[in-house]
This record gives sequence, structure tokens and C-alpha cells, in this order.
Amino acid sequence: MDMLFSPATIGGLKLKNRVVALPVFTGYALPDGRVSPLMMQHYRRLAKSGAAVVVLPNVAVSENGRTSDRSLLLDRDEQIDELRRLARIIKNNGAVACVQLNHAGRYAVTDNPMLPSAFEAAEIADSISTLKNLMGNFPFVKRFGLTAHAAKMAAGWMQEMTDADIQQTITMFGEAACRAVAAGFDMIELHGATGYLIAQFLSPRTNRRAAPWGGSPDARMRYPLNILEEMRARIPENVPVGFRLILDEKTEDGISTDQAIEFAKRLEHYGAAYLSATVGAYQTMFIPNVVKQLAKPGYLSKLTKQLKKHVTIPVIISGRMVAPKLAEKTLQNQEADLIGLGRPLLADPEWITKAQEKGKIIACKNCNTCFQNVALGESVICDRWPKVVQDRIKLETHFTSRHGYRTLIVLTSIADFTIARTHIRQRVPIHTNIFDRQLFINVNGEKDFDKEAEKYIEWCNQYFRENLKRSKLENLIVRESQDLLGLVMEHLKDRFGFVVIFYNETASWKEELLLKAPADVVVVRSGVHPNLKKVLIPCDLSDFTLMQIRVALHTFHGRSDVEFRYVHVSKSPDQAMNNWSKILDNFETDPATKLRIIQPDDDATVAEILINETQNGEYGSLIIGRRGGLTHVRRRIFGSVSEQLLHALPECTFAIVG
Ligand SMILES: Cc1cc2nc3c(=O)[nH]c(=O)nc-3n(C[C@H](O)[C@H](O)[C@H](O)COP(=O)(O)O)c2cc1C
Ligand code: SF4
Repeated sequence: MDMLFSPATIGGLKLKNRVVALPVFTGYALPDGRVSPLMMQHYRRLAKSGAAVVVLPNVAVSENGRTSDRSLLLDRDEQIDELRRLARIIKNNGAVACVQLNHAGRYAVTDNPMLPSAFEAAEIADSISTLKNLMGNFPFVKRFGLTAHAAKMAAGWMQEMTDADIQQTITMFGEAACRAVAAGFDMIELHGATGYLIAQFLSPRTNRRAAPWGGSPDARMRYPLNILEEMRARIPENVPVGFRLILDEKTEDGISTDQAIEFAKRLEHYGAAYLSATVGAYQTMFIPNVVKQLAKPGYLSKLTKQLKKHVTIPVIISGRMVAPKLAEKTLQNQEADLIGLGRPLLADPEWITKAQEKGKIIACKNCNTCFQNVALGESVICDRWPKVVQDRIKLETHFTSRHGYRTLIVLTSIADFTIARTHIRQRVPIHTNIFDRQLFINVNGEKDFDKEAEKYIEWCNQYFRENLKRSKLENLIVRESQDLLGLVMEHLKDRFGFVVIFYNETASWKEELLLKAPADVVVVRSGVHPNLKKVLIPCDLSDFTLMQIRVALHTFHGRSDVEFRYVHVSKSPDQAMNNWSKILDNFETDPATKLRIIQPDDDATVAEILINETQNGEYGSLIIGRRGGLTHVRRRIFGSVSEQLLHALPECTFAIVG
């Protein structure tokens, strides 16, 4: 492995070896575009793998350029700090940190997509065949969702970008690059592949504009070259900018290899520091014949060898570099300067160490489960991972899904407004930075309800404007309703993950809501206990303890003044501690997180012990777990411990049922 482990450089940056962890979109970001704990863990693992460069994939330069509502966003300065944490993790673990900037163009999750050219009737037949090909790569049960998703997306492809749109997106790429540099990334990559906006401008298939942005190969290069120019003008010289390039779009009317090589030469001339090669795009990579070609180990080597004859900047190869021997041979044969590993590193993050030590690599089996997941808007999971890891990731992403962070606040009396103000001031749990809704229902026919509601709304608007920059609060006043539970359940269908109610024992529908809310909705029973910041978390040490840990961290995000106490009732403390360590380890939670184990005496039930603990410890907040979650199986824990506990709490207790 002489060459694979020899140093290299990109644009003056030193690389410790020739392995690049390619951009592989994970779908792990939070719905508002921020970095999630799962993401930190994932990139720590990738950086520790020993790769010389780790590329953070598919970071959107604008809200309407996200490939999914789980893509990272870099369209505002506030996001710099979040991204800095990721860059630091990658660098501290010995890799060069590179961020790939993207605008998804027609494939963005938005009602107003940006397209070089509008969708034409002539494209419909073509698109149907693409969809058919795509279907063949998905399990039968998932095909319906995919069709609906594709149809919804294509319905928005009716308008081409104006010149102003084009200029604006170019500027956005430049601004995002500056933010990436401010966040500490060493290198930037422009995503010109897979069929997103930049590739849409480059491809004659999707760019049918006249000059200056289309009509000839030269004009089709203008958009990406202008972006590169904009970036080079705005960021320091010592930060290299590379390009993800399609070397063959695999269709007659798409980007040919000759065109790609001409473009590559131009990129080098404009200051690109490296080229990261790919083939195909969404519309072609699922054609059965292409799928077969892409299954072969090292399928890109002929094309990259050809490319290398025309440029002097480093070329990164991608595509089924399954074995270290193949990677070494590729370098020895001068078919590439650097070896890109996407799925092989996903399947086995120890690929590089094992290559060095001649260990047995867990090979990527080209099943594309990982790809199917992200194409369906889910998170990356590799079929090669142990089931316990796959389950953990499903749980994590489930909780942090769009619902997980959207809050519905139900206010039914003037007294509720006072409690809500307190919670909003304390930022518990209403601190989500994304769209929340307040529902006002004058249940008791209070005379001044509307007037007080208006005052409260005014207060909220001002408070949110000043303190929560990204927030938008929707206020709905409902005049009458016979079926309050039904009404709230209807609203929950609008993808809310938290519902806040202000509890009193006389409202039986609130009690029912605690029991009947969908399993993926966290119900917050809000009170203003003087000890709000003393939080008890009784847990049963099942997987659902993760939900409690995550709800706790989400609700009291960034609050160092809050005291958490995890507690478990067990007759076998050693076994319980063992399970606790496994949970912390499996969920990569701070290993120092303490668990108090209470050994029951013979007379008291678990519920009684926990009620006692709550009262004696004077806890003001409780985070109570429930089962069901992912499977929607009727939760087993209700009807027993949690329900008894909830009933025994004073009204003012802040209880979260997650
Ligand atoms: C799940 C998945 C997500 C991907 N996301 C990206 C991406 O965000 N940006 C990109 O340039 N390529 C992306 N790719 C393509 C990979 O970087 C790589 O080019 C491709 O998987 C072939 O290389 P491999 O065989 O080493 O995986 C993705 C591939 C997969 C399977
Ligand atoms: S899910 Fe399949 S294709 Fe994807 S990395 Fe794992 S083994 Fe490879």
C-alpha cells in the first residue's frame, strides 16, 4: 500500500494519505437545518477512520435549495457556530475538513424550485421511464410514497429562473463559502453532480435556455464558472475550492465525457483545486444497464485516467473502491490521484486501518439500502451495521424529525396566558426556532378572553421577534368546539411533535390527550412549579429511555442551571447499572450521566416509590417515558406506572410525556 498511504497535497493543503471520505448525504441534520448530536457522532467516526479528508455533504446555500428537510443549511451567519463544532470535530480527529455546498434546483424540497428551464411536455415520457427505472430499485412497499413524492415535485417545475434568480443564487454560494471559512473548514467543494442545480445548468438535457446561460456548451458552463469566480473572489487564497464533476451523464442528450473534460480544463483555469469524479445523474443512474455498470468495482477508472491527461489538479476517483488492493492499483496505474470512499467507509469505518493492518474489511455489498433511505427522505442506515445501531439511528431521527420540533400550544383560559408567558421566558419548552402554533379556545366562556388573548399575542410577537430570530408563531382563535380532544387531535395532524397543555384536573379531555396523543407526539403538561429546574427522569432502561434523554436535552437545551436526576427502581442494582452503561454507550450519551437506583421494599409498588421520590426530592419537572413510538403499538407502560405517577403530581408540576 505504498501509494495509498503516501502524503499528497490539494491546493497547498497537506494530506496525510490518499483517502478521501466522499460526501454521502446522511439526512441526520435537524429539521431547521442545524447540526444534530447524531451528526457529530457520525463525523467523529468518519474523521477517526483515518481518511485524509472528510467531506461534509450537501450543505444547502439557501432554504429553497435543500434536498431534504434533513439537509444542513448555511444561509445565515447564526449557523456558523453550529458548523464550527463539526469542522472542529473533523480536524481534531486528524482529517482535513471540507464542506460541499449545494443548491438542489429542481430537486429541492420547496414549493418554488429554481430551474434553468421549465419542465416541458416532451420530458414527461422521459420522466415516466426514469421513475419506472427508479421504482425497480426500491422495495415494493416503498414505491407508492416515491411516486407521490416525484409527482408532487414535478408539479412545481413550471417556471424557469430569471436572471435575477441566477445572480442571487451565485451570490448565495459566495456567501455560504464565506460562512464555511468562518466556521473553520479547510476546503470547499462545489456540488456539480447528481443532477442538482449546477449540473442542471451544465446538462443540455435540463438547460434549454438561450445565451447567456445556455444554448452552447460554453454558455452552459457560465453558471458554475461564475460561482467559482464569486467564491474565489470572496474567500482567502489558501482555502482550496474543488468541484464534484459528472464525467458522463450516461445519456445521449446529457453531459458527454468530451464536454466534461472541456469543462474540467476550464475549471482548472478558473482556480478549482481538485476534481471529484462521478457518473450519471438522477435521471440516468437507475437505468438497468447503468446500474449494472455502476456495480463493477472501480467502474470510473477509465474515465478518470482520461481526465487526468487533460488537467494537472488532483483527481479523486469514486465508485466501488471495495478493496485496498484495487485502490493501490488505481493509484499505481495513474488512474487517479486520490481514492474516494463513500459507501465502503459507511459499511466499515475501519476500512483504512484494516487496509494498513491487513484486517478483514466488512465489504459494502452494493445493496443501496443507504441510498433508498435518503431518497425517501429518511436517514442513512447501512445494512451492514448491527441491528442495535440501526434501531438507535431510527429512534434518534424519528425523534428529531420535523414533528419532533414543532410545538402546538393549547390555551383555554386567561390563567393559561400567565403560565405560558413564564414558560416562554424560561424558553421551556418553546424555544424551537421553527413554526409553532398557538390555539386559543375560550372553554369557560370568560368575558375578557379575546381581549387578554390579543394582549398575550402582542407580547409573544414582540418577545419572539427580539429573542428567537427564526421563529414564526401562528395564532388561531377557535370560537366554539364541542369536541376539544378531537379538535386538538386534528391540529396534531399538521405535523406537530410537541403539544403543550395547561393542566387542571377538571378538564377530562386533557387527561385523555395525555393517553391518546399519537405515539410520536410529546405531551407537555405545563405548570409553574417553583422547582421547575429540578427535573426527575424515571426510566425503565428500555430503548425508550433514549426518548427521555433526548426530550430532556431538547427541552432544556443549553441550560446549565437545570439539575437532572435519572432514576430507576430495581431489585438488581448491578444488572441495572450494566444496562445503564449499555444505554449510554449505545446512544453515545455522556458516560458520566448518573443513574440513581432505588431498591424496592416488598410493600411499595414502583409507582408509589416514584411518587415518593418526586415528593421527597421536591422535583418541579418530570420527564416520563412511554412506549410505542416507532411501532405505534399501544403503549404498554400507560395504565400502570406513568399514569399513576401523572395522577399523583400536583397541578403545578411540569410533566413531559415523551
Ligand atoms: C446515500 C448516498 C448519499 C450520497 N450523497 C452524496 C452527496 O450528498 N453529494 C455527492 O456529491 N455525492 C453523494 N453520493 C455519491 C457518493 O459520494 C459516491 O460518489 C457514490 O456513492 C459512489 O462511490 P462509492 O461506491 O464509494 O459509494 C451519495 C451516495 C450515497 C450512496
Ligand atoms: S447499505 Fe448497502 S450499499 Fe449502502 S453502504 Fe451499506 S452495504 Fe453498501
